[in-house]
Amino acid sequence: MKRSIYTLGNRKVAIIGAGYVGSSIAYALALRDVAREIVLIDINHEKTDGEAKDIRHGLPVMGTADLYAGDYSDCNDCDLIVITAGRGRKQGESRLDLANENARIMQSVVSKIKKYYTRGVILIITNPVDILTYKVSEWMDLPNGMVFGSGCILDSSRFVRTIADYVMLNTGVINGYVVGEHGDGQVPVWSHVTVGGVSIDEFCKDIGIEWNDDVKNKIAYDTKVMGAEIIREKSRTHYGIATCVCQLADAIINQRPTICSVSSVLMGEHGCRGVALSVPSVVGPVGVQQRIREKWSPEEYRGFFDSVEKMREVIEKIDN
Ligand SMILES: NC(=O)c1ccc[n+]([C@@H]2O[C@H](COP(=O)([O-])OP(=O)(O)OC[C@H]3O[C@@H](n4cnc5c(N)ncnc54)[C@H](O)[C@@H]3O)[C@@H](O)[C@H]2O)c1
Repeated sequence: MKRSIYTLGNRKVAIIGAGYVGSSIAYALALRDVAREIVLIDINHEKTDGEAKDIRHGLPVMGTADLYAGDYSDCNDCDLIVITAGRGRKQGESRLDLANENARIMQSVVSKIKKYYTRGVILIITNPVDILTYKVSEWMDLPNGMVFGSGCILDSSRFVRTIADYVMLNTGVINGYVVGEHGDGQVPVWSHVTVGGVSIDEFCKDIGIEWNDDVKNKIAYDTKVMGAEIIREKSRTHYGIATCVCQLADAIINQRPTICSVSSVLMGEHGCRGVALSVPSVVGPVGVQQRIREKWSPEEYRGFFDSVEKMREVIEKIDN
């Protein structure tokens, strides 16, 4: 009989921060039946209780999770702890503008988690996600990859969506990643984009779709500014990241390893260490299990190395 090296945990998730992002993640996880137990934790307990009840009351007709508002003692024995606590950016702000403020919040959250932490993967969502992934990895001091950040998973999803719309095909046949910083320094890896397994250059040439640097630059630009555009329109983004977290949570909790572009502390990949950035990674029950060392074009490497430098500068300037 074939046996897994992992035993299925109790499929418990704690979500710290029950604002728009945390509550949307709880809602998405509950509807997809990814977890058996979902606990929401926030400094504003009354609001959290309201969010939990609101989701919980719909579950008898869709979903089976036990979802409730709890406290940090509920971080005990979780398969996954998702951290969304912290401020979001306002119109005109970059994610890096939040670094010091959210690092302080994150440090207080981590000190409380540590009192009850027994096991499980820690997933950082709060921005600037790459900086905070690096800091939380340092503070938690777990094996590499057990703390990781959503990083460019959402940018990659936006990238695939934009390409699919351009070539007028279902997103399922497009494969592509954005790497580097979840922010202005993100790098679309055009050299590895495929449509139905065929390189996008070859596909567009064969089908007769216009394909040149102007088209690529427009897709890359639209992908990059999509978050800011949504913030201008509705002051926040939360549904997109919530659905991306479902994919990660399912890989971790239900042992369905996947590959996506997420942020973790690099250990010499592409010659880089001392920063957390996104590269295509195998994500499974113990978090980022492996980072894929694929070869990029010189321009893609240049963009990635620029992100590395930028992250190092911001990390050095963090107060705590
Ligand atoms: N990584 C991504 O792709 C992505 C996407 C969207 C948003 N975000 C980020 O997610 C974060 C949350 O965004 P939001 O829209 O949910 O904001 P929000 O203001 O709606 O929610 C933040 C929540 O954090 C709570 N909080 C603050 N300090 C806390 C503490 N010390 N302990 C526990 N809870 C605390 C607040 O009470 C609030 O409920 C932001 O940093 C935002 O930039 C990341």
